[in-house]
Amino acid sequence: MSKYWKPGSERPRTVLVDDEEGGVLFLSSPPSSSGFGHSSLERQRQRLPVYKYRTAILYLVENHATTIIVGETGSGKTTQIPQYLKEAGWAEGGRVIACTQPRRLAVQSVASRVAEEMGVKLGEEVGYTIRFEDQTKPNVTKIKFLTDGVLLREMMDDPLLIKYSVIMVDEAHERSLSTDMLLGLLKKVQRRRPQLRIIISSATIDAKSMSTFFHIRRRNIGQAAEDPTPSELPAILSVEGKGYNVEIHYVEEPVSDYLQAAVNTVLSIHDKEPPGDILVFLTGQDDINAAVQLLTEDAQNNGLLVLPLFSGLSRADQDLIFSPTPKGKRKVVISTNIAETSLTLEGIVYVVDSGFSKQRFYNPIPDIENLVVAPISKASARQRAGRAGRVQPGKCFRLYTEEYFVKEMPAEGIPEMQRSSLVSCVIQLKALGIDNILGFDWLASPSPEAMIRALEVLYSLGILDEDAKLTSPTGFQVAEIPLDPMISKMILSADTYGCSEDIITIAAVLSVQSIWISVRGAQKEFDEVKLRFAAAEGDHVTYLNVYKGFIHSGKSSQWCYKNYINYHAMKKVIDIREQLSRLLRRLGIVLKSCERDTQVLRKAIIAGFFAHACCLEEFSPNGMYKTIKSSQEVYIHPSSVLFRVNPKWVVYHSLVSTDKHYMRNVIAIDPSWLIEAAPHFYQVRKPNPAPY
Ligand code: CDP
Ligand code: MG
Repeated sequence: MSKYWKPGSERPRTVLVDDEEGGVLFLSSPPSSSGFGHSSLERQRQRLPVYKYRTAILYLVENHATTIIVGETGSGKTTQIPQYLKEAGWAEGGRVIACTQPRRLAVQSVASRVAEEMGVKLGEEVGYTIRFEDQTKPNVTKIKFLTDGVLLREMMDDPLLIKYSVIMVDEAHERSLSTDMLLGLLKKVQRRRPQLRIIISSATIDAKSMSTFFHIRRRNIGQAAEDPTPSELPAILSVEGKGYNVEIHYVEEPVSDYLQAAVNTVLSIHDKEPPGDILVFLTGQDDINAAVQLLTEDAQNNGLLVLPLFSGLSRADQDLIFSPTPKGKRKVVISTNIAETSLTLEGIVYVVDSGFSKQRFYNPIPDIENLVVAPISKASARQRAGRAGRVQPGKCFRLYTEEYFVKEMPAEGIPEMQRSSLVSCVIQLKALGIDNILGFDWLASPSPEAMIRALEVLYSLGILDEDAKLTSPTGFQVAEIPLDPMISKMILSADTYGCSEDIITIAAVLSVQSIWISVRGAQKEFDEVKLRFAAAEGDHVTYLNVYKGFIHSGKSSQWCYKNYINYHAMKKVIDIREQLSRLLRRLGIVLKSCERDTQVLRKAIIAGFFAHACCLEEFSPNGMYKTIKSSQEVYIHPSSVLFRVNPKWVVYHSLVSTDKHYMRNVIAIDPSWLIEAAPHFYQVRKPNPAPY
């Protein structure tokens, strides 16, 4: 790199750079700050570490098909690089610059920041798209932030991603399932569309292996003389940050309750340490809310401003996280690992690291995928600690021992690809015409067991045929619906049962995190309120009651408040429902309601979820169920309306695992419906073979 260009503190006006082949390239300077009153933002932009590399980045993107940019969190990769590209003309002629993120909240947050920096209205020149929410305008949007999953979906309509000039795959080190799929597919697209530029950016990455992966070898090199093709050799650029030292503290003895330990550590920092905000890493919405509550309840912590941070947070709550800490207060942000690299918070001086995060794990043998609280890797632990050293030297308090860190913590996390069910991934690749999925160009290969299991599941759902091709119309329709294939199948089957109107409400509720607001300490009251909506058939039917109540109230936030229902979640449900009904109409499905015939409703649910059937163990004193498919021990989750009711036969939507496997969203069924819905999957065991 330094052969071409040296970062200087002065902003270059124009730069002439020697090309590898001896040619001369002209690179324009960044435009001077505009006079629209956001010059302080402009100054902030120029202070970011990535700014010194602006010219170098533009040079590399111009000349290489793929550029890999490594730079520590907060150096300005996500918010600045798309703007540099736009300033350099990559969004001219109707082309769009895309920047993908694995997390939806990050998409929204960086898009609104970039719109602010550019002084434009979000949704116009700068927009974003996440599942069920499109804030872009055709022919107007020039910089588009989107989840990697949404970009994959866009490939179904536009396989060569023609409208994009540059695609920046951000946070690549996260190795989300969609990022891995996207990288493999983009490599293919690049072969067909040499002019497409790809930027892979991340905080930590094995740049060498990524570079080897993207070293494409094109046929007919050198033929397109009028439009010179960029070099096939990926460029690597490392942005040096300006992180400060972070002092690491370990606990002496392992802690048994990380939640309580985190709360105590925050209080002790507040008590003993000089001013500076605190960032606490816990695992999920539940433990974060619990910690927020414990900290706000505590009488001695005047001066603490405690805020939760997890995906699914309302816009107002997100804004609080990013707004400056009021004078005399100390902000405490309690977060999932979203704050590890996806979002940068200013002013953090102390980090409390629980050592855990919620991770997806999949076991192909019983075909069980669930979210598990699991230990993080050393790479994650270092990232977390780094969050404390952005503005000044900081401290990181690890709630695990040094010995554990050194001897037991794994060096790297496992790519999501290798720990998730591949059902959705297989459908999407099939829909993109990729048939040999094991032979696909993977950055890390998925396990053959998981692949076989995915094919089996899809076959049993009637989505793939015996030749492992998408069935028509079911398979193709399922691929069109941006939901878990089991839900999509449930929705499509509802058409046959005449209850699609009701089923899409259920599907919408299952797509948001939770419609209930659980209040610690008010559990009894909450349970009583819930009973008003509870249906004997189970959670899915209960959701229909809640939805009806909400509509009946005129979509009132007051009504939600009184009933412990999350108003934002309900608004989201209405929105998703609307989009699903539009999608179904496009698929030629006429929406019908079954007017509370809960039997047909449940049959439609079973059409998608027959593989999740369980039977109560006879004589089990504690409500133990076993899955029919693999005899796995499972229990009804306490949040379900069927908790302690324990009907003999049930079907669940998903499993969560803590001390046990818990079924979330459960309905009671009649076992004969299983055989009716999936005769190929379930057989009736005959007591005695008939004598001949
Ligand atoms: O992507 P990377 O981690 O390299 O940095 P970034 O997300 O582009 O952040 C650059 C700067 O923008 C940081 O100082 C952030 O604090 C700031 N930022 C912000 O204030 N609000 C946001 N929503 C996003 C970024
Ligand atoms: Mg970033």
